[in-house]
Amino acid sequence: MRFIKVDIRFMEVNDDPINPYQPLSILINFHQPLPTYRKMSTFLLELSYLIGSITFIIGLKQLSGPDTARQGNLLAAAGMGIAILATVLFHQKDGQPIGNIPWILGAMGVGTVIGWMMAMKVKMTAMPQMVSFFNGMGGACAAIISLVEYHSHPEGSAGYLLIVFLGLIIGSVSFSGSIVAYGKLDEKIKDISSKTLTYFNLLLLVGIIGVLALAVVQPEMLGHSVLWILLLLSILYGILFVMPIGGADMPVVISLLNSLTGMAAAFGGFLYNNPIMLTGGILVGSAGTILTVLMCKAMNRSLLNVIIGSFGGGGAGGAKGAAGDQTVKEISLTDTAILCAYAGKVMIVPGYGLAVAQAQHICHELEKKLEEKGVEVSFAIHPVAGRMPGHMNVLLAEADVPYPKLVEMEDANPTMNSTDVVIIVGANDVVNPAAENDPSSPIYGMPVLKVWEAKNVIVLKRSMRAGYAGIENELFFHPKTKMLFGDAKDTLQKLVGELKDL
Ligand code: TAP
Repeated sequence: MRFIKVDIRFMEVNDDPINPYQPLSILINFHQPLPTYRKMSTFLLELSYLIGSITFIIGLKQLSGPDTARQGNLLAAAGMGIAILATVLFHQKDGQPIGNIPWILGAMGVGTVIGWMMAMKVKMTAMPQMVSFFNGMGGACAAIISLVEYHSHPEGSAGYLLIVFLGLIIGSVSFSGSIVAYGKLDEKIKDISSKTLTYFNLLLLVGIIGVLALAVVQPEMLGHSVLWILLLLSILYGILFVMPIGGADMPVVISLLNSLTGMAAAFGGFLYNNPIMLTGGILVGSAGTILTVLMCKAMNRSLLNVIIGSFGGGGAGGAKGAAGDQTVKEISLTDTAILCAYAGKVMIVPGYGLAVAQAQHICHELEKKLEEKGVEVSFAIHPVAGRMPGHMNVLLAEADVPYPKLVEMEDANPTMNSTDVVIIVGANDVVNPAAENDPSSPIYGMPVLKVWEAKNVIVLKRSMRAGYAGIENELFFHPKTKMLFGDAKDTLQKLVGELKDL
């Protein structure tokens, strides 16, 4: 076992024959002879990686709560900063320090400025798209690492080649898949769903696995061109595999792509024998995998079902199906205010429209106003409400809504029939009864908030347009439902005004 010992010694620092010693240099050693610069730099590099890994783990833990999330993000970013700096300063290859420092710093500077500007300019509603885009960039980096590393050891062992190719394949799929997901979230790309495409994708996947096996077992057969074949096939697969996955199933794909990027980065860590990359990649990969499992559970789908079956197709956009001659009932602001003010229990169900309208702060106002009047208020949170995991939690935390007031779907549903009024703020798919009672619906089987079991349902939205899954919602025609049309923020502001006057 090694002990760290701190020595204070006189150390020879230069060749000056008159004064070769510098007094009181502090050295840390491992019970070894006086450390050379190289050993010291290795020690500092490893220490920085250890610090970085610890900050990642603590940061990730802190990200799980809204009170600590910001701090966790900063902590993990600081750890990453320390690790990058230490790598640039202390990493050595064959006894030589890193070269091309101006290029590295220049590229980091350009990336930092672009990332900073994008993050400052992005609207809250466009955050899911940006997260997807950044995830794609992570995948691209991992693929580039494999491309570069292959050329530095093309004659590597089968195990080495396997890691290089897996990093390339997974990174490329994650890159192109995330860019398509970005386009779909931004409603720039529409779903293309067909059984032929599903079969073609399966064929493509089998082809990639075949080329991979050949490239590892008989590397000389395809030569260097294997790299480009795998790159092209993987990019194509990433595009075509996300393309048909429609509407409501996108959350599963997004979390799957997150986990793929983490895995690809972990392969990069293997290649470079770099512990911080490995730790970071494994943490992202495993967190993404856990999220994927949770999302599958939330959607009541198996992963295979989502990927192969392309359920939920139909995509963002116009409503499908016809409302027939059913009519909707509207309610006035005054009647809504009276109904809520004299209710015992009110449940607010936020959805994507809350994010679009940026109505989270006024929602909190409404909650406080109702509580002043003795009404019990809670928020029911569907796991895929909005456009990114935890979207509603983030928005409501930003508005300082106390966390205990946020009730998860499993806990909210059993209390629905004792709720006097449910106010739906810009939610649609997550309250669609078709998920329960229409086997032909693309969202059939997905657990939803059973708001129709409450005594009264008020829906705040701008029109009768469909939600992300692009399907009609019978809830709007339900006898208990009344529509309050308009922008959510605007409507809630007026509603709070009405409540003040009561
Ligand atoms: P959606 O089903 O997308 O419905 C949102 C509703 O908000 C729309 O019907 C829209 O109707 C209304 N709206 C938009 N802007 C509004 C505004 N300014 N004021 C008032 N209402 C407004 O949302 P949801 O119920 O939250 O469901 C989420 C959907 O997105 C699910 O299908 C889910 O699978 C999918 N998705 C989720 C994620 C994640 S990870 N959460 C990722 C990708 C996709 P009007 O236009 O008539 O106002």
